[in-house]
Amino acid sequence: MSENRSSFTGKLGFVLAAAGSAVGLGNIWRFPYLAAKYGGGIFLLVYLILAVTFGFALMFAEIAIGRKTGLSAIGAFRALNKKYTFIGYLASLVPMIILPYYCVIGGWVAKYFGVFVSGQMTAAATDNYFTDFIAQPTEPIVWFFVFLALTALVVILGVEKGIEKVSKIMMPVLVVLSIIIAVYTMFIPGAGEGVLYYLTPDFSHFSAMTVLAAMGQLFYSMSLAMGIMITYGSYMKKDVNIESSVHQIEIFDTGIAFIAGLMIVPAVFAFSGGDPDALNKGPGLMFITLPKVFESMPGGTIIGVAFFVLVLFAALTSSISLMETVVSIIQDKLKWNRYVTCGLVLLLCVALGLPSSLGNGVWSGVSIIGMNFLDFFDFISNSVLMPIVAFLTCVFVGYVLKPQTLIEEAQQNGMAMKSQKLFTVVIKYIAPICIALILVTSILEVLGVVKI
Ligand code: PFF
Repeated sequence: MSENRSSFTGKLGFVLAAAGSAVGLGNIWRFPYLAAKYGGGIFLLVYLILAVTFGFALMFAEIAIGRKTGLSAIGAFRALNKKYTFIGYLASLVPMIILPYYCVIGGWVAKYFGVFVSGQMTAAATDNYFTDFIAQPTEPIVWFFVFLALTALVVILGVEKGIEKVSKIMMPVLVVLSIIIAVYTMFIPGAGEGVLYYLTPDFSHFSAMTVLAAMGQLFYSMSLAMGIMITYGSYMKKDVNIESSVHQIEIFDTGIAFIAGLMIVPAVFAFSGGDPDALNKGPGLMFITLPKVFESMPGGTIIGVAFFVLVLFAALTSSISLMETVVSIIQDKLKWNRYVTCGLVLLLCVALGLPSSLGNGVWSGVSIIGMNFLDFFDFISNSVLMPIVAFLTCVFVGYVLKPQTLIEEAQQNGMAMKSQKLFTVVIKYIAPICIALILVTSILEVLGVVKI
C-alpha cells in the first residue's frame, strides 16, 4: 500500500519531523501553567509516569498503524477494519478544534515578540499588562490574524520544507536559550521555593483532575489521539526502528516541557510575593511571568526578543502541521481543490478563533459549562475528545487488530522490539481502564454531578 508514498529520509529525518510537530506551544505555554495549577511536583510525576506508559504505547500504536497502512487516520482505520473508520473521523475532529485557538495563542506570542522588539519590555512586565491586552476587543484579534495568515501562507504556498529547515536550526537554539533562562530563574531570590514546588511531589494535591489534566496534556503535547502520528507513520520507511524513534520523540518533547516548567514555575514564586492565586493564572501564566524574568536579567530585551521569536517558530511549525492536516482531511473527503479547501479552513479558524479571543474580554460574560470559549475548546479537545479517541484506539488495537500485528510491523527487517510486554499490557488493560475511569469521573466533576 505504501509504495507510492514519499518517505522521510532515514530515522533522523523522521524523528525531527515528528518532533517539529510535537514541540510547540503545548510544551512551552501549556505544560508550565498546568504544572503550576495542578500541584507542581505531583503533576510532573504523574505526567512522567503517563509518558513512559500511555504515551509510549499510544505513539507506538499510531506510528505503526500509519506505517502498516501507508494512510492517514480515516483511511488507515478503514483499511484495517471498515467498522472502525469512525475512530479516524473522531480523531480528525481534534485538530479542527485545536487549530483556531492555537492561532489565538500564537497571536499572543507574536504580540509579545512585537512588544520586545519595540523596546516595551518594562511595560510588558507590569502586573495587568497581559490581562488588559487580551481583554481588548481588537488588538488580540489583529495578532490572531497575523499568526493565522503566516500559517496559511506557508500552507497555501506549500513552503513547509523551507520552514522545517529553519526550525531545525531554531529548535536547538530554543533548547539552549531555555536552559539558560531556567538556570537564571532558579537563582532569583524567592525562586527556590518554586523549584521545590515543581520538583517534589505533594500527594495532598493529587486528584482525578490531576491525572486527567496530565493525560490531556500528554496527548496534546505529543500530538497523539488526533491522527497526526498516524499520518507521520505513513511516511516512515520500513527500515526505520519505530520503537527507538518513539523513545527519542518522547524524550525530546518531555525534555522541552520540563525545562519550560523550570523556566516559569519558580519565577511565579519569585515575583508573586506569596500570592496563592499566582499559580492559578491559567493560559496567561507564561505571558505574565516571563517578561518579569527578562526585565530582571541583564540584556533582558535581547533575550526576550530571541525567546519570543524562537517560540513563534515552534508555534508556527505546529500550527502549520495542524492546518496541513485539516486541509488534507477535508481535501481527501470532499475532493475540493487546495485553494478552496484552504479558504474553508481559514473560515473555520476565524469562526472559532474570534470567540476564543473575544471570550477574554468583551464576551467574558458568556460561559459554557463555566468556561470561556478558549478554555472550552481546549477542554473539549484535550479532556474529552482526545481521551475518547485514545480509549477507542487502545480497544481497537488491543482486541480487534491485536497488539501482535503492530509488534510484527515494528519487527520487520529483523528489528528488535524490547517493550512488547509493556506495549501489550498497557494497550489492552491499563490504558483503556484508566482512561475510561478518569474521563467519566472528571466529566461528572466538571458538570457538577460529583465532587472529587
Ligand atoms: N503538539 C503540539 C504542541 O505541543 O504544541 C500541538 C500540536 C501540533 C498538535 C501539531 C497537533 C499537531 F498536528
